[in-house]
Amino acid sequence: MKTLIVYYSLNGNCDYVARRLAEQISADLEALRPEEEPPKSGGMMYAKGGWSALTHRTPKLAALSRDLLAYDTVIIGAPVWAGTYPPAVGSFLKQTVFKAPHLYLFACSSSGNSEKMLKQLGKKVGTVSASASFKDPLKHQDQENAAIDAFAQTILKDGSIKL
Ligand SMILES: Cc1cc2nc3c(=O)[nH]c(=O)nc-3n(C[C@H](O)[C@H](O)[C@H](O)COP(=O)(O)O)c2cc1C
Repeated sequence: MKTLIVYYSLNGNCDYVARRLAEQISADLEALRPEEEPPKSGGMMYAKGGWSALTHRTPKLAALSRDLLAYDTVIIGAPVWAGTYPPAVGSFLKQTVFKAPHLYLFACSSSGNSEKMLKQLGKKVGTVSASASFKDPLKHQDQENAAIDAFAQTILKDGSIKL
């Protein structure tokens, strides 16, 4: 029984969630590394990043270090960009066949509203056991840590992971 968290993070929020979850559910981590990214701050971050997401760019990704087929539980994490998932995640979805019996999703956004993106991701990956949404967790750790821990418990209670 092995668990993998695959995620993209430009500014550390999804990375924070992935690492906190991984500690609690004993998961391996795989960060997506695209060859093109917007700047990490400023207006151009939103302009370039938003445009790249809305036009569904699929940049080349650095080779993954894990073989997804070796995992029975896969958790995918992404920030919301212009209401949708970022290009790195689009590239990952395009190159991956999802066979893990247990799939989970999480999203980070600044509004806390990630429903549209989670629905879009769900359509791409197949049956999702559960999903969770976090509001800029690096900024709101007091509130979001508890939500991350609750998501870890949900995953553990599903019984697909033996610690
Ligand atoms: C290009 C870009 C577009 C964004 N668009 C949205 C959005 O449509 N809705 C929202 O709530 N947050 C939006 N955000 C904020 C991020 O989703 C949010 O800060 C998230 O926590 C960042 O995760 P990360 O630090 O792992 O990259 C956007 C951020 C970027 C960089």
